[in-house]
Amino acid sequence: MEFELQAQDSASSARAGKMTTAHGEIETPIFMPVGTVGSVKAVTHEQLIKEVKAEIILGNTYHLYLRPGTEVLKAAGGLHKFAGWPRPILTDSGGYQVFSLAANRKIKEEGVVFQSHIDGSRHLFTPENVVDTQRAIGADIIMAFDECPPYPSEYTYAKNSMELTHRWLARCVKHMSDTEPLYGYDQALFPIVQGSTYRDLRKISAEFIASMGADGNAIGGLSVGEPEEMMYELCALTCEYLPQDKPRYLMGVGTPWNILENISLGVDMFDCVMPTRNGRNGMLFTSKGVVNIRNKKWATDFSVIDDGIDCYTSNYYSKGYLRHLFIAGEILAMQIASIHNLAFYLHLVKQAREHIIAGDFTSWKNEMIPLLKTRL
Ligand code: GUN
Repeated sequence: MEFELQAQDSASSARAGKMTTAHGEIETPIFMPVGTVGSVKAVTHEQLIKEVKAEIILGNTYHLYLRPGTEVLKAAGGLHKFAGWPRPILTDSGGYQVFSLAANRKIKEEGVVFQSHIDGSRHLFTPENVVDTQRAIGADIIMAFDECPPYPSEYTYAKNSMELTHRWLARCVKHMSDTEPLYGYDQALFPIVQGSTYRDLRKISAEFIASMGADGNAIGGLSVGEPEEMMYELCALTCEYLPQDKPRYLMGVGTPWNILENISLGVDMFDCVMPTRNGRNGMLFTSKGVVNIRNKKWATDFSVIDDGIDCYTSNYYSKGYLRHLFIAGEILAMQIASIHNLAFYLHLVKQAREHIIAGDFTSWKNEMIPLLKTRL
């Protein structure tokens, strides 16, 4: 995988770049829609490409390992072929999902024993078998196996957890070099910085991660309930120690304004369930602010959802009609809201990229943030 830095903002640490993977190029900063089980909920691949303009999607090792399982994925020739998704895929390692979803988890040096949230069956995830599963999925970008400690965590817990994540990383790196891709194209491994909310641990972790010389680096353990200002401060500190010439991926973040602030700190890649999950609940992010579409005030508003972005769905359906679909419990409501929110996120990062290249990112960002936060 290659990464080319194309522009840097003079008033902040924001950057524009281009990643090249086996399944195509990705212009950064980028937002990656979450397709947990190999499907971005309520959105077809055609809509992802033509309307959302997604350049890369994310899958989850935890879910894909449980269903459909690695045998089916291998028989299909990997997730790209199985799902019919032609563009890049990044998979999270399962480290996070095991902690947030599975029952009766037990963390050991070897890995994590857990019970499936689907049928209660027992499984063991190790740094090695999580790499094997991501080889079987055929993701272009594979995430290292990590522990994401909860917020808040005691210092001793956070330190031990970070050290375990570092030892697991060394095992992931070794197993990557001991194994081959299954489908003939390269897969890149991204390590993950941890260290909870402790500045000294974040610095140690970022320096350790940087020393691995990976194709890209991720920042984990943030947006887990800490105040926003604390997330920004820790993200800024972490970015300082991560290589300039490799993409930086902030995992699980966030709101549109979180994304702009973190772009200004030097982050290149984001993923979050927020545009799809909140969309399914009737919360829309638009270029004029946040809309709760179930509110009675939208009942007779026949203006389109958002005319400020280039997306057929956002420019076609009216707010009043979408509200009616939500109140009537129609599945089309969730589909329209998910497509719109994702298209809005992709529009926002594209605008950010254009302003970084034009040299006025910081003033644009400072104007945009109050607008994005407005409750309509
Ligand atoms: N998604 C959001 N945060 C994290 C994290 O800390 N680790 C992993 N693996 N995935 C995440």
